[in-house]
Amino acid sequence: MAVTRTFSIIKPDATRRNLTGAVTKMLEEAGLRVVASKRMRMTRDQAEGFYAVHRERPFFNDLCNFMTSGPVVVQVLEGENAVARNREIMGATNPAQADEGTIRKTYAESIEANSVHGSDSDENAKIEINFFFKPEEIVG
Ligand code: CMP
Repeated sequence: MAVTRTFSIIKPDATRRNLTGAVTKMLEEAGLRVVASKRMRMTRDQAEGFYAVHRERPFFNDLCNFMTSGPVVVQVLEGENAVARNREIMGATNPAQADEGTIRKTYAESIEANSVHGSDSDENAKIEINFFFKPEEIVG
């Protein structure tokens, strides 16, 4: 299996509860390596741009409000089949449907405050990584 990269966000509900380390530990224990990481406060423009694909969805405005409500930690994760591996350890978007042992089952508060984001394809991973990181900020 190829070593690939994916993009992850530790969301404001998790940073507020001081769970950055706990979430990162679960990612690392799942075989993923953090090759870039920064804590930041997303601007409204960044949130709207990042989630542009959801612009027509009824939850878009609330989602952007939430993602700008506190610090996030954006990360690039590397590992074998990184996109799929990260999605497995995150669990379903809605924590009520997430499997036991996943990050969202363990920590998420709701479908909106669901603690983590992860890319859904290799193609989107590249786009999302480029949205937040310069190549020289990624150290594999
Ligand atoms: P994320 O993986 O960051 O991608 C889009 C986000 O929208 C998703 O996680 C959820 O946190 C959020 N969201 C809020 N409401 C919904 C909903 N009804 N369906 C899907 N995603 C939702």
